[in-house]
Amino acid sequence: MANENEKEAAARDSLRFVQDGNVVGLGTGSTAIFLIRLLAERVQAGLKIRGIPTSARTRESALAAGIALTTFERDPVIDVAIDGADEIGPGLALIKGGGGALLREKIVASAARKFVVIADSSKQVPVLGKFPLPVEVIPFAEALIAHRIAALGASVSLRKDPAGKVFVTDEGHHILDCHFGQIPDPGGLAQELNRMPGIVEHGLFLDMADVALIGKGSQVLEVPRVPARASSV
Ligand code: A5P
Repeated sequence: MANENEKEAAARDSLRFVQDGNVVGLGTGSTAIFLIRLLAERVQAGLKIRGIPTSARTRESALAAGIALTTFERDPVIDVAIDGADEIGPGLALIKGGGGALLREKIVASAARKFVVIADSSKQVPVLGKFPLPVEVIPFAEALIAHRIAALGASVSLRKDPAGKVFVTDEGHHILDCHFGQIPDPGGLAQELNRMPGIVEHGLFLDMADVALIGKGSQVLEVPRVPARASSV
């Protein structure tokens, strides 16, 4: 429950980055749902924004809440993207994709002038990797990719939905959850993964977040991106 309060507080704090007239990238997950509810309240009070959702789920939630949506055809630049994270490490290196939306989330974050991460305090870690790294693959290549990632030292499992069926992303791909335990060199691992044909995207979001708002007890910590070695995160 405390985490839910922290998530809501972080989402509430992120509203100060949203200005009237903005195009807003809308994240996916339980923290982003708080954002959508809070943004909807502001919209009802007169705030004018257009959202670009990072998943079909978020699209439905935003429309149900009365938030106007737009597309990259009309708005190729996003003023601010706001999204949750599964882990936040030094230098605001992130693991994302626990909800399976990493591909659109990374595209939206990359199109944003500012990328704001919202999270509860459990997400802040000294080293990434306890949370399994989601890797989105095309089904044809999944066995090959699983083998290659296992050779890098991870235990790899194909994501299933709660009914036991293979999880399929919004774009029709599968997800390999890669349990590394620790990822001491996220940049090096990202380079390795980027070199594997068949991987559509991976959940390492490096040098992307501008600021993290982390609910901690009754406070929200604002953590700006700084080089990893100088960070206290
Ligand atoms: C969705 O694919 C993820 O990247 C989420 O942003 C991440 O899993 C955080 O989700 P919660 O806010 O539910 O913890």
